[in-house]
Amino acid sequence: MILSAKNLSKSYRNGTKKLSVFKDVSMEVKRGDLITIMGPSGAGKSTLLNILGTLDRSDSGILILDDQNIDALTNNQLAHLRNSFLGFVFQFHHLLPEFTAFENVLLPNQIAGKKDNIQKAEELLNYIGIIDRKDHYPFQLSGGERLRVAVVRALMNETKLVLADEPTGNLDLENANRLIGLFQKINTEFKQAFVITTHNSEVASIGNKQFYLENGTLSQLDSI
Ligand SMILES: Nc1ncnc2c1ncn2[C@@H]1O[C@H](COP(=O)(O)OP(=O)(O)OP(=O)(O)O)[C@@H](O)[C@H]1O
Ligand SMILES: [Mg+2]
Repeated sequence: MILSAKNLSKSYRNGTKKLSVFKDVSMEVKRGDLITIMGPSGAGKSTLLNILGTLDRSDSGILILDDQNIDALTNNQLAHLRNSFLGFVFQFHHLLPEFTAFENVLLPNQIAGKKDNIQKAEELLNYIGIIDRKDHYPFQLSGGERLRVAVVRALMNETKLVLADEPTGNLDLENANRLIGLFQKINTEFKQAFVITTHNSEVASIGNKQFYLENGTLSQLDSI
């Protein structure tokens, strides 16, 4: 089992007000799954993805990643799990500003203490249409280009699970299709599992499991 979430609930407290984002969310991710989560703005998709990626904590419920209950892990063990097991594509992609696109892409290799896989980095950047921008710094890239760099970075370590928050949000139709094609290709060839959030029903439809998050409830569309 790659991921098992049971009864995750999350609320935010603003002063005296409590905002419940979602309640009793459960899902499983198996090897080779490509899971999509659709839902309107503000439904809690980013919050859920951050919790699944251990960047945020739920108020209650159990999260098991790589067969380990994350509540039982020390901060160091958690950091190691994040680096070795997870790849992230954030909605507001955090490229490091002082590194070029190419250097950003090679960072996961370096953090994992592996040799730079220059060939793979070039292949992926080429596939996704930004190889000629590889020596640009993030401020010299468009939003969609930055996003694509972040996607390549997330794919470099062949982690078992990739979490992608609205990865096509900034892209025109052609580049969105190309990006989704890349996810599908990698998912099929390397059995990397994906959890992808989206507003777009076409993107949602590529999931072998499709979920909908609304009014605090996660439901599986193909099982309604
Ligand atoms: N730190 C916070 N404190 C209080 N409320 C928050 C906080 N972060 C998010 N929220 C609220 O929680 C809800 C869910 O936010 P979230 O970012 O997860 O939504 P989303 O589904 O990803 O939306 P979008 O599609 O616009 O990205 C929103 O109503 C938001 O205002
Ligand atoms: Mg979001």
